[in-house]
Amino acid sequence: MSKLIKVAKTSELGPGQYKSVEIEGEHIALFNVEGKFYALKDVCTHDSGILTGGTLRGHTIECPRHGAQFDVRTGAVVRMPAYVGVETYPVQVEGNDILIKVE
Ligand code: FES
Repeated sequence: MSKLIKVAKTSELGPGQYKSVEIEGEHIALFNVEGKFYALKDVCTHDSGILTGGTLRGHTIECPRHGAQFDVRTGAVVRMPAYVGVETYPVQVEGNDILIKVE
């Protein structure tokens, strides 16, 4: 059964910023791109690099380890060396709260 978990306030994360949040031991990268929020599993599919700590340009996050890039909207690979997309999570904003839906 899925549930919505509050992870942050909208005021904590300005456009172009990201933060790492944890839900039940799972590390999730939460991004604000132009006022919209996106959540990805915070683990690079290439060799388990932590995506938070990488560089966010537009909708693309670059893994700090070997430079793989992913689209934060879909988790899809934008640039190798990763070739498998990253898991995404639905994000909802309720008032000033950011919530992530997990199974
Ligand atoms: S671990 Fe992310 S590019 Fe290698």
